[in-house]
Amino acid sequence: MSLAIKNGAIFFQGRFIHKEILIGDDGRISKIGNSLVGDESIDASNLLVLPGLIDPHVHLREPGATEKEDFNTGGRAAIAGGFTTVMDMPNNTIPTTTKARYEEKKQLAKKALCDVIVHFGATPDNFDEVKKADPPSMKLYMGITTGHMVITDKATIEKHFALFPKDRPIVVHAADNDPNETKNLAATYDNTEFALALAKKHSRRLHLAHASTGKEITMAKAVKSATVEVAPHYLFLSSKDAESLGATTYGKVYPPLRSEQQRIVLWKYLEQADCIATDHAPHTIEDKENSAAGFPGLETSLSLMLDACDKGFTDKIWVVERMSERVADAFNLKDRGRLGVGLRGDITIVDPKLTWKVSGSGLETKCKWSPFEGRELKGKTVTVVKGGELIYLEGEFQK
Ligand code: NCD
Ligand code: ZN
Ligand code: ZN
Repeated sequence: MSLAIKNGAIFFQGRFIHKEILIGDDGRISKIGNSLVGDESIDASNLLVLPGLIDPHVHLREPGATEKEDFNTGGRAAIAGGFTTVMDMPNNTIPTTTKARYEEKKQLAKKALCDVIVHFGATPDNFDEVKKADPPSMKLYMGITTGHMVITDKATIEKHFALFPKDRPIVVHAADNDPNETKNLAATYDNTEFALALAKKHSRRLHLAHASTGKEITMAKAVKSATVEVAPHYLFLSSKDAESLGATTYGKVYPPLRSEQQRIVLWKYLEQADCIATDHAPHTIEDKENSAAGFPGLETSLSLMLDACDKGFTDKIWVVERMSERVADAFNLKDRGRLGVGLRGDITIVDPKLTWKVSGSGLETKCKWSPFEGRELKGKTVTVVKGGELIYLEGEFQK
């Protein structure tokens, strides 16, 4: 069945234009034009029609910690937040560090309503497994965080950088978790500098995960083969909020929320960042109360960014590019991230004027809480199409 999306402002080649989109039986965009007719149609009057958004950094927790999230609930959270593709991190309780586990996770992920791309994980000695699995991207932890995946030996880190195919990104967690801010910042910058120097030396792709300071963005942008992501919580929350949320419980995340001053500097450098990533890291309320680090972000990130556009802090075109085509470019995804004939019929339709209030209990994520509880945000995903299939219509799941 073909599907026409009519009357909206579509994001096409870097701007919003009034055109229609037709998605063919094969789930791909077959036409962009005027007066298009499909077997079915969606009326996008007064709405923005975006390429299905791509989140390069989520933790959907399956297998191993399905009390926190699974591919069903995480996939629903992704769709409700406007993401048709998410990239899942390997730091599961059963880490994604062997070919067998990588294949198993890809199978499990098929039940998600969104597309899931699985990041493979590096360990101090899994070089053969990396080679066997031949994944399109790899995650390497230089700092301690949820899971047990840290690699500290510099020669081992370099060996991964030298062996992994150069045109495929290694995603680096460089953040240090020392409770002392001065110490963790210094160690984070050291790790970042080391990883970037290696990327340069081996002329290889590197993607810096969850930059929380302007300095990390500047450092990454000085290296041609590197890209960098920012997570919205570093833009909209600071250590003041961490204190009121509970510094060792609900306000705890890695890297930690930064000072107000750092947060303002991050906004100054934001324009240079390549991607917005949610770092959706759900934990149960019980785990949060027992000091687990991480925030859910799939259902709030786009709205936070759109709300910031409405307030004049940033620009819609900039935001959409960093949540779609720039992510596709960073991860070599050729078939998505843009609206274009022949590309996948993945579409996110948003109402930039719809105001809603964040309430953890009403979210799709299994963890049912949010660090943004009670915030009023202007801008929300209303309809999502994936591969030409209508998954979410006017805020209601169709399956
Ligand atoms: C993440 C998690 O819980 O998996 N936690 C976090 O605080 N960001 C791990 C990570 O992204 O480092
Ligand atoms: Zn991390
Ligand atoms: Zn993460």
